[in-house]
Amino acid sequence: MEFTNDLISAVNGIVTDSKWQKVGPIDELLGKDNILLYPDITQDEEQTQIDNIVLFCIGPNEFYAIDCACPHEGGPLELGDIEDTGNEGLAIICPWHSYDFNLKDGTSSTGLKTNVYETRTANGDLYIKCDHVVSLTNTKDQVKIKKAQENEEEEETIQKLEQLQIKDEKEYV
Ligand code: FES
Repeated sequence: MEFTNDLISAVNGIVTDSKWQKVGPIDELLGKDNILLYPDITQDEEQTQIDNIVLFCIGPNEFYAIDCACPHEGGPLELGDIEDTGNEGLAIICPWHSYDFNLKDGTSSTGLKTNVYETRTANGDLYIKCDHVVSLTNTKDQVKIKKAQENEEEEETIQKLEQLQIKDEKEYV
């Protein structure tokens, strides 16, 4: 019995430590253009500083993931065009100043380099290797809405308390 528990916790440890995260079914991803992956700040609010990742789905076995912000001046690489550079493979061209970034290793003929993320397919799903938790949902917006709702509720509570206080004061007069 003890051995089983040890085994389970060991397996759980491996799963928890893994940086590989499931993005979704390959069939569904292939029909889409550039897919944004957001840092999941519902799990860790410090992730608000982390850049979004763009996922390019070229074919059933060809996926690339890189940071959205161009390392030159922050241009939106998710809006760039993809070009075939021949032997070097595919490159994304930044829409702001046309710097090229190789989708496999993030290098550019300009000498700059952007972050790239490993991807892998298994059992019909796509996985990405990433240090932080990513989400297909923009959790930054979700957290903003939640905070706004909390502030609204707080204001309502304050107003109710103030009304009660006024009522109490009137009763004592
Ligand atoms: S911001 Fe991308 S090339 Fe300048």
